[in-house]
Amino acid sequence: MAENSSTNSKSPNRYTITAALPYTNGPVHIGHLAGVYVPADIYARYQRLQNKDVAFVCGSDEHGVPITIKAKKEGITPQEVVDKYHGIIKKSFEDFGISFDNYSRTSAKVHHDTASAFFKKLYEDGKFIEEVTEQLYDAEAKQFLADRFILGTCPKCGFEESYGDQCENCGTSHNATDLINPKSAITGNKPVLKETRHWFLPLDQYEGFLKEWILKEHKKDWKSNVYGQCKSWIDDGLRARAVTRDLDWGIPVPVEGGEGKVLYVWFDAPIGYISATKEWAEREGKDWKPYWKNEDTKLLHFIGKDNIVFHCIIFPSMLKAEGSYILPDNVPANEFLNLEGNKISTSKNWAVWLHEYLEEFPNQQDVLRYVLTANAPETKDNDFTWADFQARNNNELVAIFGNFINRVVVLTNKYYDGIVPEPADFSEVDTQTLKELQAYPAVIASSIERYRFREAQQELMNVARLGNKYLADEEPWKTIKTDEARTKTVMYIALQIASALSFLSEPFLPFTSEKLREMLTSAPLSDQKLSWNDISSLPLGEMPKGREGLINPGHQIGKGELLFSKIEDEQIQQQLDKLEASKKANASTSSATLNNAIKPQKEMIEFDDFTKLDMRVGTIIEAEKMPKTKKLLVLKVDTGIDVRTIVSGIAESFKAEDVVGKKVTVLVNLAPRKLRGVESQGMILMTETAEGKLSFVNPDTSTPLSTDDEVSNGASIN
Ligand code: MF3
Ligand code: ZN
Repeated sequence: MAENSSTNSKSPNRYTITAALPYTNGPVHIGHLAGVYVPADIYARYQRLQNKDVAFVCGSDEHGVPITIKAKKEGITPQEVVDKYHGIIKKSFEDFGISFDNYSRTSAKVHHDTASAFFKKLYEDGKFIEEVTEQLYDAEAKQFLADRFILGTCPKCGFEESYGDQCENCGTSHNATDLINPKSAITGNKPVLKETRHWFLPLDQYEGFLKEWILKEHKKDWKSNVYGQCKSWIDDGLRARAVTRDLDWGIPVPVEGGEGKVLYVWFDAPIGYISATKEWAEREGKDWKPYWKNEDTKLLHFIGKDNIVFHCIIFPSMLKAEGSYILPDNVPANEFLNLEGNKISTSKNWAVWLHEYLEEFPNQQDVLRYVLTANAPETKDNDFTWADFQARNNNELVAIFGNFINRVVVLTNKYYDGIVPEPADFSEVDTQTLKELQAYPAVIASSIERYRFREAQQELMNVARLGNKYLADEEPWKTIKTDEARTKTVMYIALQIASALSFLSEPFLPFTSEKLREMLTSAPLSDQKLSWNDISSLPLGEMPKGREGLINPGHQIGKGELLFSKIEDEQIQQQLDKLEASKKANASTSSATLNNAIKPQKEMIEFDDFTKLDMRVGTIIEAEKMPKTKKLLVLKVDTGIDVRTIVSGIAESFKAEDVVGKKVTVLVNLAPRKLRGVESQGMILMTETAEGKLSFVNPDTSTPLSTDDEVSNGASIN
């Protein structure tokens, strides 16, 4: 261990930067962006500007139970599900400017080969325990229940809707058999235990390694939320984890006895980082190995907090077991982003979807990037609101950044036909301003290197503030009438600040940076010879002859265009209306979906069975409570055929006097049966919600006959 450093962080030339592979069962939303992809992209872009050798990789996570559940729901194949969402996700990342060197997918052949080989190597090296154990099995669905096919109470926090492999409430990862009161997500049945053979990674054997590597080596440099979670898992004691599953969607287990089984999705997915690097290297004519095997490569995993255990405990143990790979230097995990005060939810459509944003706010990628970074959930969960989105755009991007650039470009065009003027001697204020400017690259860099992207972006905005203050104090629009030489100096310095901004903004606001570079230099950023640190060596004091600034006298700048424009109230209102609509749609289904309580469809019947039912419209003409019962009313019903007695179990929902006179739907040819000694000669049709709330079926419309229009889809009629 290096003696002179308080952390073990490397400062190398080669970076392998990974961003969590998104599950391909839905599009990407702002929570994913704020937690993972925007910070990872800022970091990757920054390291490239430092002339580092960067492999920034990601891809679609296409295996696992959620994909098969989605496929079942939509009535299509898992492959069709992943093809659809892989396309949407890949395109939206591209359009949003996430600068992956490669965006791959786990259904790619290179990945199947890589993951298979990885498993085989551990198998052959005797790193797995092979065991026949009892696993949860749904006898009706004839399927083993793993991961998200099973729901139950979390043994750690008591959350009742925990998945088989992980609790979304407390983040704990467990084995499905640990769940209390498990039930099948397919049929709702209580599972039985059935024997099956699987391969386990004995994590308990890696405890010593993890203690040394995380608890000793990375105590100081990992974020406290990440370190804290790791410590608590290690302190709780680690157990063997199955790395194979009885499923038919995934990477086939490539060893004897593995027929009909696949690799656990969390075994194959992180290997996807390696496959994505291989695919990229192949395309670029490079060797992928140094990016994963050389000790002087810095490997970083950008993830959300629900992925910590997999990236800090399980994947590193796999890498360690394999033996030839480096370990991550850091795992900068973020907390969660909420939306307008509520948890983002794909199933409730409570989200801002990236592909929709890109359509509804064309060419405004940087605004969203900016707002997400400004509110990044770096140390605690944070909230995205549309009001804040509008305010940050209008009051910060437009009023501070945009305003400064606009003034500089407009005045340079107005006073000097767009030609950068020759400065005269610098005043003390000038030197001071340039000195301040020089300090920023190191300040911003230091924040980025410590994964404090909010802070880094605030410092970037301080550069624009510095420019605004300088212009406001030096007032070139006044001195232009009195002191030509002074005005030239002021504009020269303002142009240096603008040029520095075009450069320093690139990791945060890449589209703006590109526009600004073109405006100032009429050449794209990729053609610029400057590097991040050149800004620190601006000439101070009197301009020495031949000494260049960031942008030099005599250079012609462009006419300019507005970098940002005001976002109006109507646009914001539209977004709020959209969310309101989701809320309404949820409210109407939520009562039925409570605890997944929509009853499964009953067995199929033939048309003939149906035509046997004789249903008529009738009117209740008398009603009285059946003595000594809670539920039963004795009704006299005029069916048009006759007036008959029907005993109905509706007394908990209706008072006798309230039902008299009601028109109802009656099943008239139900065989009579005696209830508490009274013969019931038919049945009144009712709808029943998940909570057991009853209402009559309207004979005209077959809908619930009640003032309560909250009865939702899926409520049964019986
Ligand atoms: N698909 C997972 C999720 O969205 C993340 C997988 S990250 C990887 O939570 F390491 F497995 F690739
Ligand atoms: Zn829990």
